Amino acid sequence: MKVSVILGHPQKGSFNHAIAGRAVKTLRDNGHRVYFHDLYSENFNPVLPYGEISRDAVPDTVVEGHCREISDVDGIVIVHPNWWGQPPAILKGWVDRVIRPGVAYQFCEGDSGEGVPKGLLKAGTALVFNTSNTPAQREREVFGDPLESIWKSCILGLCGVSAFYRKMYGVVVTSTGAEREGWLKEVEDTVNQYFPG
Ligand SMILES: Cc1cc2nc3c(=O)[nH]c(=O)nc-3n(C[C@H](O)[C@H](O)[C@H](O)COP(=O)(O)O)c2cc1C
Repeated sequence: MKVSVILGHPQKGSFNHAIAGRAVKTLRDNGHRVYFHDLYSENFNPVLPYGEISRDAVPDTVVEGHCREISDVDGIVIVHPNWWGQPPAILKGWVDRVIRPGVAYQFCEGDSGEGVPKGLLKAGTALVFNTSNTPAQREREVFGDPLESIWKSCILGLCGVSAFYRKMYGVVVTSTGAEREGWLKEVEDTVNQYFPG
């Protein structure tokens, strides 16, 4: 299978990098072809210009490459920290520019954008791994865990990805090395479950 792994975290050596690294290694060990994008290292420009909004616009070559890739893969793995209940801006901008009309979704004929679009992504499975410093119960009860609906419904579900799994690891700031090692093993087990060899 072909799988895209998209990482949005600015610090090499972060736990997010460790998660992405473990996911990439497990996928490769299982024989999959992996396209890994560390968006900060690639200096991805997240700002969607006006001229790129229309369905018929031709995006720049970097974005065009991402679009070709995301249309073609069988699976997607997203890794990022919880920043204000949202992905970091660099990843939000990747969504704005790459998950675009004609690539990831389209409206039916005669629908100017008010209806329910058809998902175009052929990827059947998406995994989202997040980290945070908020205990899970407070995240759910006080904040409503917005990342769950952002990824599951607003983005991946809308674009036709049917199998979705997400896990938020934390509290990172007070975690022990042994806890983090256990979380990485869980990432590995999850990848093995959804993308076996
Ligand atoms: C700009 C910013 C916003 C953040 N917002 C939240 C938040 O809303 N909730 C939360 O639990 N943690 C928040 N954090 C903490 C990060 O989620 C935390 O540092 C990260 O998950 C730890 O993973 P790492 O060790 O890979 O950096 C925020 C951090 C930054 C820098």
